[in-house]
Amino acid sequence: MMPIRPRRLRRTPALRSLVREHHVRVDRLVQPLFIVERSSDAGPLQSMPGISRFTVDGAVAEARELAALGVNSVLLFGIPERKDAAASGNVDPNGIVQRAVRAIKAALPDMLVIADLCNCEYTDHGHCGIVDAAGNVDNDATVELLARAAVTYARAGVDIIAPSDMMDGRVEAIRHALDAHGFTDITIMAYSAKYASAFYGPFREAADSTPQFGDRRTYQMDPPNAREAMREIALDIDEGADIVMVKPGLPYLDIVREARDTFDVPIAVYNVSGEYAMLQGAIANGWIEGDRAIDELLACFVRAGADIVITYFAKEYARRHRQA
Ligand code: PBG
Repeated sequence: MMPIRPRRLRRTPALRSLVREHHVRVDRLVQPLFIVERSSDAGPLQSMPGISRFTVDGAVAEARELAALGVNSVLLFGIPERKDAAASGNVDPNGIVQRAVRAIKAALPDMLVIADLCNCEYTDHGHCGIVDAAGNVDNDATVELLARAAVTYARAGVDIIAPSDMMDGRVEAIRHALDAHGFTDITIMAYSAKYASAFYGPFREAADSTPQFGDRRTYQMDPPNAREAMREIALDIDEGADIVMVKPGLPYLDIVREARDTFDVPIAVYNVSGEYAMLQGAIANGWIEGDRAIDELLACFVRAGADIVITYFAKEYARRHRQA
């Protein structure tokens, strides 16, 4: 019998390209942006080399650069100057994220503006919801607050609302509130399988959202669980999520694959701050080759089944791979 020689398909770049199974598309990358109120809070983040916090004006300029590179989607995180126990900044029609949405949509109507919806950036204790007298995050009070905040984001002109809090029933409540106010066309991208992960460390510096007591393990998922992720995703789809997300990305590619094989809705993956920081740390030390590692990383998210990749590398990737 003739020996089978898989290497025949790897001989030249053209051959490898001909038989390549998956491709990263710049128009499926989402760049997260951190938005602050004061220019003194803007600037580079120490634990996320290459990533800065922007004022509203800075974010508009950044969005313009992204659009020129073919990155059509941004995910906004608002970091208010004042925080309180009730997260009141989150429902302020003139709050930081609402203003940023309005400014970006006014300057770049075709840019897809996604707003992360959570309370942790707005509470003085750093938890994702309203904390009761016993120190627990009150699910239903938090859901009500999220639904109200979602309507203010919608009024500001957001395209997609992305609840990242992991409260039960929030997708349904947000969908109802949006519909009741006439925002039937606003998309919900739910952080459905969001794990209580150590890989969010640098984000909490960026968003000033480190919990002042306890941790997020009573609402975010336990990392060793996979079946539970499918249950969370199924619930969110039932409640009206249009897109579902798995987060973090790298250590959870099995979850991405299983979600892709189980559900028909678009699947997003979030390549989180700690994953970004690890890679940048190794690149800065010369321990790994940056461009190759980043290209490989993004391709592996797509291979695992992600339709949408949220990544701090979006701009940098687009700069090296301009697509028509
Ligand atoms: C808000 C939120 C977090 C992230 C996205 N939305 C932080 C958290 O849950 O603690 C993390 C993003 C990242 O690490 O890049 N709840």
